[in-house]
Amino acid sequence: MTESEPRADEVTITPYRDGPLLVRGPVSLRDPDGSEIPIERRTIALCRCGRSRLKPFCDGSHKLASFRAPAGTQRGSAGGRATR
Ligand code: FES
Repeated sequence: MTESEPRADEVTITPYRDGPLLVRGPVSLRDPDGSEIPIERRTIALCRCGRSRLKPFCDGSHKLASFRAPAGTQRGSAGGRATR
C-alpha cells in the first residue's frame, strides 16, 4: 500500500476543483436530527456550490453555475471551522 492509497476502513474527503467534495469509505450520513440519510454507494459527492437540487448530494449543477473553488485549501487557510 502506498501513501496515496487509503485503507479499506479509511474515510477520505477530496475537494474537487470547481466541484463537489468526494467522500470515499465507510461513512454514515445523518441529518441534524440524527436520522440516517441513505447512501447507495461507497463513494458519494457532496455539493459545496449550493446549487444542487439533491442536497446534500451533488447533481452536477456546479457546472452550469460556473462554480469555482480550489482542489485543495484556499491559500492562507489551514484546518477548518467546526459547527455544532
Ligand atoms: S458541487 Fe455539484 S451541484 Fe454543487
